[in-house]
Amino acid sequence: MNAATRAPINAIEIEEAIFAAQLKSIRRNNFLPIPPQERNFVGDGDFLAIGCEFLRHFVELGGLKPQHRVLEIGCGIGRMALPLTQFLEAPAGRYSGFDVVPAGIEWCQQNIAAAYANFEFLHLDFKNQLYNPDGRLDEQTVLPFESDSVDFQFMISVVTHLDPAYTTFYLREAARVLRPTGRLFVTAFVMDEANRTLVAAKKARPAFHLEGEGPDYIADKAHPMAAVAFDADWFLRSARAQGLHLQRPIAFGHWSGRVAENFQDICVFQRGK
Ligand SMILES: C[S@@+](CC[C@H](N)C(=O)[O-])C[C@H]1O[C@@H](n2cnc3c(N)ncnc32)[C@H](O)[C@@H]1O
Repeated sequence: MNAATRAPINAIEIEEAIFAAQLKSIRRNNFLPIPPQERNFVGDGDFLAIGCEFLRHFVELGGLKPQHRVLEIGCGIGRMALPLTQFLEAPAGRYSGFDVVPAGIEWCQQNIAAAYANFEFLHLDFKNQLYNPDGRLDEQTVLPFESDSVDFQFMISVVTHLDPAYTTFYLREAARVLRPTGRLFVTAFVMDEANRTLVAAKKARPAFHLEGEGPDYIADKAHPMAAVAFDADWFLRSARAQGLHLQRPIAFGHWSGRVAENFQDICVFQRGK
């Protein structure tokens, strides 16, 4: 095909091609700091590749823009923040992340915030049976972020370690902190009818126990917070009660045995109807 017969390229295609090239170069960047294996408490796999995969989801499914004010709840040891250092454009593009594990926050402060002035990391001492059993903060706390101040907020593999009370707390605080046009991107194990059937047929990993009335289900009775699933109706109703509505259909993941690219289910919420 020569230039005369080629279909014209539109602005969206150009933007997509630029973003694809940007992702590739972030993925290949050997100068980004990666925490040593012994300090990584957030999961196996290629640290940078997983962060890049989520950056793609944030842009393609969540509408993240380089000028957005971003808040991450449960930032761990910077797996999502690291690729964002190459995407967010200061001064408008700014990131705050917090977590309950001080060691992760210290690493992020020393290795990310020290090099990027538009990034900050906070330790908030919320109790979590698995990650921070002696935590002194609870669901009565107000997060130290202004109302109506954030364009893009996310929780990756965090509500999968929370009970219903904490999940409701974060939905409430997320709704408060989001700007009216903002988005909340959450990964979860969502128990809708199809996933429940797959879990019952033992296709799912984690293999959640379905006994009990819900809204939460656990997979490991010895370590209940290791993996938590929520009834879809309860989860979406709880979000709606805080004024958060699904912005797009849930992108179901392959944890349940469905065929999908992503592992956990991805929910993108927006304020209002
Ligand atoms: C599987 S890790 C995921 C970390 C990070 N989101 C990522 O994807 O790299 C789960 C994270 O949730 C954090 N977490 C647990 N309870 C929390 C709470 N109540 N508030 C905020 N973060 C919490 C843990 O400390 C841990 O960093």
